[in-house]
Formats: sequence, structure tokens, C-alpha cells
Amino acid sequence: MTLNDFDLVLFGGSGDLAMRKLLPAMYARDRAKDLPASARIICVGRHDCTTEAFLASVNTTSKPHIADTALDAAVWQRFCQRIHYVALDATDPASYTALATAMRDDPALTRVYYLATPPTLFATICLNLAACQLATPNSRVVLEKPLGRDLKSARQIIADVGSVFAESQIFRIDHYLGKEAVQNLLALRFGNVLFEPLWRREWISDVQITIAEELGVGNRTGYYDTSGALRDMLQNHLLQLLCIVAMEPPTMITPDAVRDEKLKVLRSLKKFTPATLSQNVVRGQYRAGHVNGVAVPGYRKEPGANPESRTETFVAVRAEIDTWRWAGVPFYLRTGKRMADQLAEIVVRFKSIPHSIFAQSTGSFLPNSLVIRLQPDEGLHLNLMAKTPGDSMRLKPVDLEMDFHETFKSPRMDAYERLLLDVLRGQLTLFMRSDELEAAWEWVEPILDHWDQEESDPFPYTAGTWGPAAASALIGRDGLQWREET
Ligand code: BG6
Repeated sequence: MTLNDFDLVLFGGSGDLAMRKLLPAMYARDRAKDLPASARIICVGRHDCTTEAFLASVNTTSKPHIADTALDAAVWQRFCQRIHYVALDATDPASYTALATAMRDDPALTRVYYLATPPTLFATICLNLAACQLATPNSRVVLEKPLGRDLKSARQIIADVGSVFAESQIFRIDHYLGKEAVQNLLALRFGNVLFEPLWRREWISDVQITIAEELGVGNRTGYYDTSGALRDMLQNHLLQLLCIVAMEPPTMITPDAVRDEKLKVLRSLKKFTPATLSQNVVRGQYRAGHVNGVAVPGYRKEPGANPESRTETFVAVRAEIDTWRWAGVPFYLRTGKRMADQLAEIVVRFKSIPHSIFAQSTGSFLPNSLVIRLQPDEGLHLNLMAKTPGDSMRLKPVDLEMDFHETFKSPRMDAYERLLLDVLRGQLTLFMRSDELEAAWEWVEPILDHWDQEESDPFPYTAGTWGPAAASALIGRDGLQWREET
């Protein structure tokens, strides 16, 4: 689909996200010849500098995030010509005049305001855009997470942004929904007849969703210390993955049909009470250790960190969904920084066979499982039982493996490439609706309240491990183990 000509305005245009992800994603789409010839990217930042000076920093800061094999001097030159820089104080309405001057005043163009800023600025920016007549009917606004820090602040953002833009103009981004393997999960569930009859409590014993990172918080302690793993990852990425795994088949792949089903899942999550919380939620914080053989400091010793910080860098939750399909099936969600491996995966474990016709000595039985790998390698693993060759009837678990890179040799699209294209096309399916956002905050809020009142610190865990022992105990109480422990 050819894109309409556009002005894309990046607030936070000199920030980390713009440099690492957004500009490289737009470059990739330029190289793929998706961008109209006169489409422009207007980067907005607080610092006073010229477009030339800004481009020099794009060259040194953003360009290294593009693979050498994707760099093409002519495309890079064309891409740089699209970029303009505007210095602007987001809180000062007068300074939006410079932005108005830099933008093209043509109602036939698409205007996109991408707010890669702290959420405390979302309302101010939108209200100032409206005051300067920049929030036009041909405009869209993209909001980066975190969308608030609790239910109250999220509701305030929804109301303030909603007073300027219609819901159909608001794109609340969760980059996990743009990942190839997440898209493939939709294809797997709803493009095959095989899984759907089994995709329910009668046949599934439990589901594990893990996003583990080897990285620490790096230079983001300022943001992270006020956020923590629950707000940074669980409230959004992990819950969105859970929605895709658990939702009922939407009638069509249209924005509201998909989002209605996701919303039902979020609203059906069993609410925590103070009594159930301590059994079902574990938080941890990394201490010094080794990751890939390299010594790394503990969270409290990271540059800029509060030496007494109680911010969690790990969280594990046992969730349940109160529906006919899922009643009683535990969903274990887990994420952490400085863990033993860098991976994101969904493990669906099926129940054991109801009756074995084989003698005890026929091998090691494992229930079937389906592993959907999101990263680092994207693929599917279906664990089945098979007979080992030979005279005796010995069974052994085998792995049916599908590697997306091997199967589809076509070039990959980064999540931000796909999502930016969707914004430019006006396609909302992969973006969160306001009621989804509220439902997600409503569910996590009792956890936040409980932690606020709790006297104790998060459980310590050594960097380079799979998190605190309490996380193994959480799943162990159900007689289960995390996948890497089996
Ligand atoms: C971001 C979080 O949303 O997702 C980061 O703010 C985290 O803390 C990142 O590192 C993980 O994303 P990915 O795509 O690298 O798994």
C-alpha cells in the first residue's frame, strides 16, 4: 500500500529511542522505497542546534544502529535530506511557532506527532499542539510507554490526550505487538485448525511467558528507578503477550474486533487480594554477579542509582483468567534484567496423556509442549514423544522445530518499522485502546499498592542467574518448574 505524503514529528527527537530505534526504522523503510519522495521527519528537542549539527549527531549516534549490510550511501543521503531539527520547549506554547513554521500546511498530508517523551509531558504537548492549531483532523499522535505510572495518572493521560485527539487518532504503542513472532502467534492460532481444539483448560496445563534480559539498566537509572520491572515490562509487554495467547478468536482482524477480545482477557484476570498477592507475586533486584563471564555491579551500584533503592528489576506473577476456556490454568509471567540469558518466549504446556499403554521402562515421558520463541531467534518448537529406532519400544521427547529465518529467507522487519508503517497507514490493530490500558493498570494496581506498604526489600538475586529462589518456589507450589529448570 502506497503511503500518503507525511510530516512525522518526533518529540524527544534527540533521545535514546529516536536514535536507537525510530530513525533506523525510518531509514529501513526509506531503503525499502516505502516513503513518499517528499515525506519529512522533523525531530524536536530542547537543545538549541541547527539541522546540520543535529544531522552530525544522527551520523554518530543513530547510524551505528543500522547494520552495515543495510547501509547504502545514496539512501542515507536521501534519508538525511528528509530530517529537519526544531528546538522547542514542550512546556512553552510560544515555542511551538517554530514547529508550525517547519511543518507543511496542507490538509492532504498526514501529520504524525510521535511523543517519545516522559508521560508527564503528553498532556502538555497535546494541549499546546491544539492551542497552536497544529492538532488538525489529518493528525495522529503516537504515545510511547509508560502510559502513566498508575491507574489514576493513566486515566488523566487518556482524558487530556482525548480532549485534543479522537481515539481513532491515538496510537498507544507497545513494540512487542510489532514483533514478527507475535504476529506469527496470531497466524498460528487462527490460521490453523490444529491448535484451536486443544487451546483450552481441558488440554493445557499451564502457560509460561518469559522476557529475560542479560542487560542491566545501563544509563536509564533515572527513569528505571521510578518505574521498575512491573511498570516497565509487565503492565504492557507481558500482559499484551498474554492477551494474544489467551484471547478468543476475533471475528475479523480489524482493530476493534481484536482489541475487544484482548480487553475481555484483561478484564477476566483474577484480581489479587492482599492475601493472594504474597503467594502469587515475587519481586527481585539484582546484586553483583557475572553475565557471560563478565563481572557486573548490582543494581544499587549502577551509575546514578539510589544505593538504598527498593525498585524491582525482576518480577514473576502467577495469573489466572476467570473464563470457561481458562479457569484454573496458571499463566506464569516473568521478566528481569541481568538474567542468565537474553530471551523472550511463550511456553504452552499440554496435559499428560490420560493413560499410558507403554511399560514404565519405555523411556522418559514428557507432556507435549509448544514453545514460541520471540527472540533472539524467532521460531516454534513442538515437543512430541517418539519411538527411538531399534528393536525395543523406547520413547523419547523429540523437537519439531521451525526457524522463521530459515523458512522465510525474506528480510526481517524490526517491530518499530512495522508499527511506524501502521501509524502512517492509520492502521490501529496493533495499538492499545484506552479501555485496554485502563484494564491493565486496574489489574496491576493492587500489586503496586501492596509493595508500597510492604516493609521488606525485593528478593536479591545474583546477576547472571534466573532470578530469586522465591520465583522457583512460586511455580514449584503447583508442582511445576520454569522451562530452563526442567
Ligand atoms: C522496553 C523497556 O519497553 O523494552 C526496556 O523499557 C526493555 O527496559 C525493552 O529493555 C526490551 O525490549 P526488547 O525488544 O529489546 O526485548
